[in-house]
Amino acid sequence: MRQIIISLLLLVSITQAKYMDNHSCKECHEKIYEEYQSSFHAKGYFKSILHRKIADKVSTKTYECARCHMPMADNMDALISGEARPDNSNKTHTDAVSCYFCHTIAYVQKSHSFNVNIKAKQAKGYKPTLYGRLRDADESDKHSSTSNNPIYAKKVCTGCHSHKLNDNNVTIFRAMGKNQDSLGCIRCHMPKVSGGVEKTNKKARITHVSHQFLGIHDEVFRKTGVDMNISIDNGKLHVMLMNKMEHPLIIQPARAKYLKIEIQRGKKIIWKNYNISPKEDAQGYFAYAFKQEYKDVVIPAHATKGEVYNLEAKEIKHLSYDIPKLQKNDKVTVGLYVRLAKSDCTKVIDLDYASLTKEQRIKKVVFKQD
Ligand code: HEC
Ligand code: HEC
Ligand code: HEC
Ligand code: HEC
Ligand code: HEC
Repeated sequence: MRQIIISLLLLVSITQAKYMDNHSCKECHEKIYEEYQSSFHAKGYFKSILHRKIADKVSTKTYECARCHMPMADNMDALISGEARPDNSNKTHTDAVSCYFCHTIAYVQKSHSFNVNIKAKQAKGYKPTLYGRLRDADESDKHSSTSNNPIYAKKVCTGCHSHKLNDNNVTIFRAMGKNQDSLGCIRCHMPKVSGGVEKTNKKARITHVSHQFLGIHDEVFRKTGVDMNISIDNGKLHVMLMNKMEHPLIIQPARAKYLKIEIQRGKKIIWKNYNISPKEDAQGYFAYAFKQEYKDVVIPAHATKGEVYNLEAKEIKHLSYDIPKLQKNDKVTVGLYVRLAKSDCTKVIDLDYASLTKEQRIKKVVFKQD
């Protein structure tokens, strides 16, 4: 009898301390689960081709990207040291930036090369406590809650999105300032949408925060990041760009965002801001550039130098172009575009997925001379 009780207790402590995978949340948080599944947080090594190709190019042995792209991995140290590779049959690998991971971040330790997420300790034998900001959260059979946890909302995005430097102290990406919290990130990327927080909805809530995490991939959402105005005088075209986001326009080294300007007279294009590559227009081409000693390199992991031409958070830039004198009915089109994987990057990793390599419009403004 004693034996049975002991083994039962053991079983309880093992099962309770177990990881709750993404799918297990669906039972009660169905809407949130579905939104999340469509988000890029759900992608990671196995579903994001761009990430996987670059990761394999950087190193076929070690996978240190796991820290942020596969943060729930149950063999993190082995992945980073190269003793193990991403495993398609391991839930803690395929779950990518998982529900459970985000909702158990206790605090974030700031650090020079990249910040570190510190997980909340879960008491063995009890159901896990998930952090959130609901007021007066209801009890649940599967987990406890921490009502209105402020640490959670202020820190939750800073562990992965803040910045990353490579071993040579070169910045690979940066989205946040040193003392920036994540309330702004949540306001824009997790707006309130209709529908209760969970199925039973005993608290009769009418909204929940969206877990789609819309970003550069969404055609409607991405129009809202930058304001663009144009004016023309004395043979000059003035373009004003205002970044309304609380992060730079470029926060990812694979990306290029750039202006494409055309003046059309009748059926003919009579002027463009570049001929072949948007890079020709230095003032309208936003991207990172890396060097290893004196050689240009695309993959930033081993770069010894790096620079970025950017539109910083809340920055306004005034660009101006010498253009031909306009005639009646001439049409000036100014478009802001993105390439999710810029062309030099595509070559290095043999990427031929059109959705990643083709240019996609963020927004455009048209002026017609009268
Ligand atoms: C410190 C955290 C961190 C580490 C470590 C990290 N990343 Fe990322 N990565 C991010 C974040 C945050 C984003 C989202 C930023 C964005 O999309 O602009 C991202 C986005 C990306 C993207 C763009 C994804 C897309 O769908 O367009 C690629 C590619 C990428 N990372 C590759 C890598 C590779 C390869 C490694 C390992 C060598 C790595 N990252 C390590 C945090 C990290
Ligand atoms: C058996 C049902 C059930 C399951 C399974 C479940 N939850 Fe919950 N969860 C609830 C209930 C009930 C609430 C309270 C809702 C309310 O107050 O309106 C809740 C609230 C939450 C909150 C808000 C906590 C707060 O303090 O603000 C978070 C975050 C959360 N759940 C995350 C998750 C995640 C992540 C999973 C999967 C790993 C999950 N839940 C699985 C029932 C469940
Ligand atoms: C555990 C690390 C981690 C945390 C914490 C995290 N993210 Fe991410 N985020 C990523 C990674 C990695 C990607 C890139 C995924 C990919 O493309 O494969 C990403 C991508 C994104 C994107 C880009 C979506 C797109 O389609 O362009 C947005 C927006 C985003 N995250 C917002 C947030 C917000 C807001 C928070 C805080 C509530 C947050 N993230 C917390 C790791 C994280
Ligand atoms: C004022 C609204 C706003 C705020 C605040 C904001 N973002 Fe964004 N973010 C956007 C929009 C709009 C886009 C898509 C347009 C673009 O990337 O040019 C975007 C894009 C992104 C991307 C994808 C960019 C890419 O090229 O891959 C990530 C990652 C991201 N945001 C994370 C964050 C994080 C982290 C915070 C908090 C520091 C934050 N955002 C704050 C509006 C916002
Ligand atoms: C990238 C981090 C991140 C991931 C991944 C994530 N959440 Fe959340 N979640 C948040 C943040 C941040 C909030 C609270 C926003 C606020 O109210 O300030 C939140 C809020 C919630 C809430 C409370 C609802 C509300 O309106 O406040 C529930 C329930 C929840 N999440 C469940 C889930 C489930 C289930 C998953 C996976 C299917 C998931 N979360 C994945 C960051 C995340």
